[in-house]
Amino acid sequence: MARTIVVTGSASGIGKATADVLENAGDRVIRVDLKEGDVTADLGSAEGVSAAVDQIADLSGGVIDGLVANAGVSHPTELSLKINYFGTVALIEGLRPLLAKSEAPRVSVTTSAATLQGNDPELVDLMLAGEEEKAIERGTALTAQGPQIGYANYSSSKRAISRWIRQVAPTREYAGAGIGINGVGPGQVFTGMTTDLFSTEEGRKMAADAMPTPYNGIAEAEHIAAVHEFLISEGNARMTGQVMFVDGGYDAQSRGDNIW
Ligand SMILES: NC(=O)c1ccc[n+]([C@@H]2O[C@H](COP(=O)([O-])OP(=O)(O)OC[C@H]3O[C@@H](n4cnc5c(N)ncnc54)[C@H](O)[C@@H]3O)[C@@H](O)[C@H]2O)c1
Repeated sequence: MARTIVVTGSASGIGKATADVLENAGDRVIRVDLKEGDVTADLGSAEGVSAAVDQIADLSGGVIDGLVANAGVSHPTELSLKINYFGTVALIEGLRPLLAKSEAPRVSVTTSAATLQGNDPELVDLMLAGEEEKAIERGTALTAQGPQIGYANYSSSKRAISRWIRQVAPTREYAGAGIGINGVGPGQVFTGMTTDLFSTEEGRKMAADAMPTPYNGIAEAEHIAAVHEFLISEGNARMTGQVMFVDGGYDAQSRGDNIW
């Protein structure tokens, strides 16, 4: 049966591929992005999220079956905290009442294999505690130390959202309401985000050194979309609180087998 699915960051890359796959399979997709889509909003601000929630409620008639919370940036600045963590959490929470009215509600979040890389544990804790002002302050201090240190804004935003997924998944508000929530953690993907990085030999080498992908190399956006498609499907009826790494083997290679 056709389901109504919201996809954020739908104008490019993974979001566009996911929206297209779902639409081609017969779902009704509500596309959300900064400047194009059914809903245009800045999901890095509280006002933008609130406006998006209102418009999605209007367009959907008050019920949605799935949310692919995918919009994000990889800036080595505090902007990554605002969009990838605070905006994403606010949107999921804002849409939870609409999801709870579905027969088989599912959320799938695009996190990142960067969640496995070096991050700033204090910053992660501030995000998880909902201390937005203090987190932005700490993120800004990291940004001031240049892009290498500032990168922790990105990896920490993805670590925090991955942990948040596990925190809320078994709760009354999510599991108790039948809402499954999982994440997809891409490694390296050819999208608008990585065009510059992969356009030079130096960039490709830097990326390969930082995140090796022994299994089939760099992904296309469609490879990530396929996993989102499963995670928000009715058929995914028992998996919740998981982050599926779609990373060409980076997790297995870097963390090894003894992670349980
Ligand atoms: N490309 C990769 O290698 C890679 C790897 C791991 C994780 N990711 C994650 O995948 C997700 C999608 O990224 P992508 O690679 O498809 O990049 P992309 O730049 O091609 O697409 C991102 C989309 O998000 C939208 N967006 C950005 N900020 C927004 C905001 N404030 N409000 C609304 N929309 C906004 C953009 O306009 C764009 O359409 C991100 O969360 C990113 O962190 C990407």
